[in-house]
Amino acid sequence: TGAAAPADAVLAWYDRHRRALPWRARPGERPDPYRVWLSEIMLQQTTVTAVRPYFERFLTRFATVEELAAAPAEAVMQAWAGLGYYSRARNLHACARAVAARPGGRFPEDEAELLALPGIGPYTAAAIAAIAFNRVAAPVDGNVERVITRFYAIEEALPAAKPAIRARTAALVPPPRPGDFAQAMMDLGATICTPKRPACALCPLTGPCAARRSGLQETFPRKAPK
Ligand code: ADE
Repeated sequence: TGAAAPADAVLAWYDRHRRALPWRARPGERPDPYRVWLSEIMLQQTTVTAVRPYFERFLTRFATVEELAAAPAEAVMQAWAGLGYYSRARNLHACARAVAARPGGRFPEDEAELLALPGIGPYTAAAIAAIAFNRVAAPVDGNVERVITRFYAIEEALPAAKPAIRARTAALVPPPRPGDFAQAMMDLGATICTPKRPACALCPLTGPCAARRSGLQETFPRKAPK
């Protein structure tokens, strides 16, 4: 055991249970940064189940970032129709144009450079850096917040606990596999470490989980009273 133990357990679980999603590369293959970026933008306010068909259809219309950049705004809005939050589609188009204008028309690999692009905030920059480029980065969404606050029994309430949660997550990132670790934590939160009745018996972190040890897993994350 040691600092690497929780990440190792999470990665071993991911290797057995990873969900095949259309934007994920198969094991051993390089992810396509365009697909990773598009999926992360679509998943910002929309569930995996709802995104899937839109993602596939969008890709048949715009197979590359160059094609998307060259498309008229109306065509992009039409392909986005049904996903809602239309500012996402406008930013998506602006981002595609910014990327297409870069050397080689490629996405930057660096988290800070990604953050400077339209529609890419701290979560999305970290997700793309980790998943598309295997950079050491720790995207923290609501699912990851739940896993981490339970694992460490973080008593501080959201949203004040966010910096502590980010630091705890970042400290766990295994340098060889940041992308798999990020997606493993998302899957763990979505499928095992659920808000109600988490499936602790199936969780790779059940032994060392601080909340589980006291039977209080469902009470995390703590929320500030309204
Ligand atoms: N939610 C946001 N990004 C995701 C990803 N890459 N895999 C699964 N769920 C996600």
